Amino acid sequence: MEVPNGLLSKIELDEFTIKEVQNGFKTIEKRLGGAKEAGEQLLSKLKVAMPKTAPMLKRSSTVWSLWMDLIGSLDDPMIVQKRLEYLALRHMNTEVIPADVDAFKSVMMEMCAAKLGGLMSAEFQFGVAQICTAVGLSLANTFAHFASRLKLLQSTWKAIHVDQNVKAKGY
Ligand code: HEM
Repeated sequence: MEVPNGLLSKIELDEFTIKEVQNGFKTIEKRLGGAKEAGEQLLSKLKVAMPKTAPMLKRSSTVWSLWMDLIGSLDDPMIVQKRLEYLALRHMNTEVIPADVDAFKSVMMEMCAAKLGGLMSAEFQFGVAQICTAVGLSLANTFAHFASRLKLLQSTWKAIHVDQNVKAKGY
């Protein structure tokens, strides 16, 4: 399945910002003691802020490694689009709304600030905010798009069903 054009956001960052973000997350991961710990730290905080994300905590290593893969590919827009598509399709069961995007961004930013302190540059903050918005909106827009199609399909099937019943009963 492919996500139609326009639902996935673009992440456009300059080379310097990309390096800041990449180095920043490497440092955060190291300071937290590894990928597993970093994932658990992020997702346990996310669960408190957004209880519906609890299933992500069970897959915290996967979530963190997907996040690091995305960060690692920021200088290749084609790969970024593929990764956003994969993430959006993995969230098809989940209603992600724009307000969730802000909650996600705050949790991510707080964790980064706690681990980077004075190392957190303006470019890093700008880059992370852009990435969180792009990921979150890609999930929200893809979900909204397919949910509205699913509703249309359900109402069409209901209408067909009613119509067939009416015909079968002759009234
Ligand atoms: C606004 C941000 C996000 C929200 C609100 C959100 C929400 C959720 C929710 C509610 C689920 C459970 C889905 C289910 O049980 O069917 C889920 C699963 C998951 N999320 Fe997120 N998510 C967000 C961002 C991310 C990001 C940035 C990543 C990875 C980098 C990610 C990776 C995953 C993975 C791997 C799963 C597990 C899917 C599975 O079990 O197959 N999510 N997410």
